[in-house]
Amino acid sequence: MPYFNEYNEPNTIQAHGIVVLEKKHQAIKALKRKHKPSVHGHKLWHSSFLLMDYLNFHPLPNKASLMEVGCGWGTTSIFCAKRFAAKATGVDLDPNVFPYLHTLAEFNQVTINTEQAPLEKLSKAKLANHHTVLGTDICFWDELVNKVYNLIRRSLQAGVTQVVLADPGRSTFHQLVARCSKKYSTECHPWYTQDPEFISGYVLCVSAR
Ligand SMILES: C[S@@+](CC[C@H](N)C(=O)[O-])C[C@H]1O[C@@H](n2cnc3c(N)ncnc32)[C@H](O)[C@@H]1O
Repeated sequence: MPYFNEYNEPNTIQAHGIVVLEKKHQAIKALKRKHKPSVHGHKLWHSSFLLMDYLNFHPLPNKASLMEVGCGWGTTSIFCAKRFAAKATGVDLDPNVFPYLHTLAEFNQVTINTEQAPLEKLSKAKLANHHTVLGTDICFWDELVNKVYNLIRRSLQAGVTQVVLADPGRSTFHQLVARCSKKYSTECHPWYTQDPEFISGYVLCVSAR
């Protein structure tokens, strides 16, 4: 692990107990020269802070196993690994996001497993290993509504306790909420956080009836 002084490191911010590197941070600049995510995984999206805040109020069991789908830079997994000692696996279609995830994990002195896979191909056998499935800002195209809904269905059939997703409030996300509420125990909370700045949106929590 490189030495990291959380009070002196330039171009970092601290939020919900983790350190996040800003665009200007030299590690991010170096990564951007080599790895170019292509499916919107080029930055950390704000819904991840919403989900961290929600999880502060609705904590995971200690050392729970979780899968974060469409993980991008994996900050929610990093938060869960630090806050709950979670065993986290970040899954993304785009392998170019993983160097960012691993760099952030290293700065936060946690280890996150990663797997390159489209979320629509995650089997029940794979999902069954996890207590919780998480995702932030993953329902942003019309075609993703069906894919994410089916992922929720497979997860709950496989015995996952809950699927928790955060979103700024896109129409596609609300279509997903409407579909889930017909079949599953579904809570959709308007949510905000002030850390690291004011961010608002929604958190969807789905579990089996
Ligand atoms: C808007 S970004 C959000 C990234 C991260 N969750 C965050 O909040 O910072 C969407 C992420 O989902 C990934 N993604 C898009 N479609 C996917 C799919 N079908 N299966 C798995 N990952 C996907 C992208 O590569 C990208 O990393």
